[in-house]
Amino acid sequence: MTVDALPSPVRAGGFPAGFVWGAATAAYQIEGAAALDGRTPSVWDTFSRTAGKVRNGDTGDIAADHYHRYREDVALMAQLGLGAYRFSLAWPRIRPGGRGPANRAGLDFYDRLVDELLAHGIAPVATLYHWDLPQELEDDGGWTNRDTAYRFAEYAALAAERLGDRIATWTTLNEPWCNAFLGYGSGVHAPGRTDPVAALTAHHHLLLAHGLGTAALRDALPAGAEVSLTLNLAAVRPLTTGPADLDAARRIDGLANRIFLDPVFHGRYPADVLADTAHLTDWSFVRAGDLAEISRPIDSLGINYYTPTVVAADDPADPAPRQDGHAGELSPWPADEGVRFLPAEGSRTAMGWPVDADGLYELLTRLRDDLPGLPLLVTENGAAYEDYTDPSGAVHDPERVAYLHGHLAAVRRAVTDGAPVRGYFLWSLLDNFEWAYGYSKRFGIVHVDFASQRRTPKDSARWYAEVIRTGDLPH
Ligand code: FCB
Repeated sequence: MTVDALPSPVRAGGFPAGFVWGAATAAYQIEGAAALDGRTPSVWDTFSRTAGKVRNGDTGDIAADHYHRYREDVALMAQLGLGAYRFSLAWPRIRPGGRGPANRAGLDFYDRLVDELLAHGIAPVATLYHWDLPQELEDDGGWTNRDTAYRFAEYAALAAERLGDRIATWTTLNEPWCNAFLGYGSGVHAPGRTDPVAALTAHHHLLLAHGLGTAALRDALPAGAEVSLTLNLAAVRPLTTGPADLDAARRIDGLANRIFLDPVFHGRYPADVLADTAHLTDWSFVRAGDLAEISRPIDSLGINYYTPTVVAADDPADPAPRQDGHAGELSPWPADEGVRFLPAEGSRTAMGWPVDADGLYELLTRLRDDLPGLPLLVTENGAAYEDYTDPSGAVHDPERVAYLHGHLAAVRRAVTDGAPVRGYFLWSLLDNFEWAYGYSKRFGIVHVDFASQRRTPKDSARWYAEVIRTGDLPH
């Protein structure tokens, strides 16, 4: 199954025939087996071992032990009726240390997983990089070192050569914004660096890795395989339509959205972003030919959406506390002087993120207009809540059901209004290691008891299975 081969007539009231129903996870968040079969540490192994970086000192050493329990997990996916499963490959499992030959034992794991998925009629959708950079590459500068982009392309080729005969949809990167700006700007994600120039440099090298990786995938994959990129684009809203608030929205739209969309789809960086950041850098890390590399055509765009971004003008002399949903004392946004971040209205999830499904509709219809004809996938959407386990062991999560219902209704509305959305991947299949929050935040539709590794589908899992079965939302 490939994403743009799907028919897309919209059935009255429902989702299009052939709409892909999926769920998503990421390697470091679920696999565990951190030192098994030749895997070497990633920046997240190092970061989670650094005192004070991850809540409770949690690490991904064991996580949901998916490395050993993938069969049970695929059986759960089959019970749900999933048509596709989005997961990530661990770079330090496949190419330990980030350089040199492929690690057969590491590839074998994904080989088994992919075969298990296919045996259950579930299409594997693989992301090459969901933030687990081999530590040795970080030691040499990580994403601030241009060399890392070339190592990524080699890794992409190794993965595609082994798995490309069975995986039809490949994603180069997951959320490079988070990796660059949280990882190198505010430092709340690995590798924990706090330098806005490093963040912008990392941003460019991640995009270069996307471009070089796309080329490597095209060379290694059979004709018809699809290459994609997943971005956490922001639904940016000005607080008022006054010129100062509109300018704050322009600035953040530049740093969240156009800083990706312009280079990837138009081969240029936005002039206003270059101007806004000129006091930090002259962008001389962008070399001749890079933008042509970065703007190689891709087959679809993945969008991860959780909550909108509301901004207003701020008084630089007396800045208001930043409420953009990202933890940490430092701002992840380079050059956000004069911008005030406010929460949207409405109820909040356990992450403190306001629930606002209209933002997803706004994003999808904007992309319909800005990138005509490009197939879109919602590659992540979901919510953390304090789930209630009743004395019988059942997990009731009505807030998550309401969140999913509202957001899927927004997707359906966007599709009805012509947005070419081909599928939806719920975040997440399993409760997992939620980065700096460790195991304290549960996003799964399947509860994981981390002490026993017992899996219990929550009410939301049954609800989602019914949506998948009927191809529509319950009334
Ligand atoms: C996204 C990440 C994903 C998960 C969700 C909640 O930013 O891609 O791994 O942590 O947020």
